Amino acid sequence: MFRDSITRLTIILRTEKWRIIPLLNDRLRYYIWALRLKILGMKLGKGTLVRFPISYRYPNNIKIGQNVLIGEYAFLVAGPNSTITIGNDTKLAANVYVITTMHNYEDTKTPIRLQGNTEKDVTIGKDCWIGRGVTILQGVKIGDGAVVAAGAVVTADVEPYAVVGGIPASFIRRRGQRKDSGDMLRMTDIRG
Ligand SMILES: CC(C)(COP(=O)(O)OP(=O)(O)OC[C@H]1O[C@@H](n2cnc3c(N)ncnc32)[C@H](O)[C@@H]1OP(=O)(O)O)[C@@H](O)C(=O)NCCC(=O)NCCS
Repeated sequence: MFRDSITRLTIILRTEKWRIIPLLNDRLRYYIWALRLKILGMKLGKGTLVRFPISYRYPNNIKIGQNVLIGEYAFLVAGPNSTITIGNDTKLAANVYVITTMHNYEDTKTPIRLQGNTEKDVTIGKDCWIGRGVTILQGVKIGDGAVVAAGAVVTADVEPYAVVGGIPASFIRRRGQRKDSGDMLRMTDIRG
């Protein structure tokens, strides 16, 4: 019985090793990566997965909720006096850029690098889906349940459960109100 189990396990390991080894390698890499971010002060909720690699500034000012997915090559730029907050269950696809700082540039006689920065918090709500390659600029609040289309540049607040896209991002529709579907839902149905 015990021998049979060992033989079966050996066969599985032999035949499936090219699937199992990369999976274990990935899991281990994510675990080490998350540990490193936590040591640097980033708040990562339970069940949150940060895909390797991402870039970040001021990790102590980045707060990520539970069961969040942060895709590869995210760039999370918080400042010394500004925070990035991401709510539970939100998904960021790959290459998402979130920034809370901006250079001052109005003075044409002084190099931009000497004009200082402004900082404003960015908040992404719960259960949002931020598409691939989205840029979210300083001061933006994205409401719970919102969807941001791939490639958008978000310069202003996004209503809860809205779908927005484009540059600058503008309203496309509400979730549950697809133009071509007969089953238009009321917002209360979505939230309830
Ligand atoms: C936003 C999104 C979810 C909408 O998908 P959908 O519900 O199938 O909507 P449709 O394709 O029917 O498009 C609805 C409208 O939005 C527009 N639209 C869709 N994607 C857009 C984009 N990325 N930027 C700008 N406008 C977009 C469409 O042109 C269409 O406009 P119209 O009504 O004037 O014709 C989808 O386009 C998207 O960007 N998904 C993200 C994919 C991604 O990043 N995946 C990464 C892996 S997680």
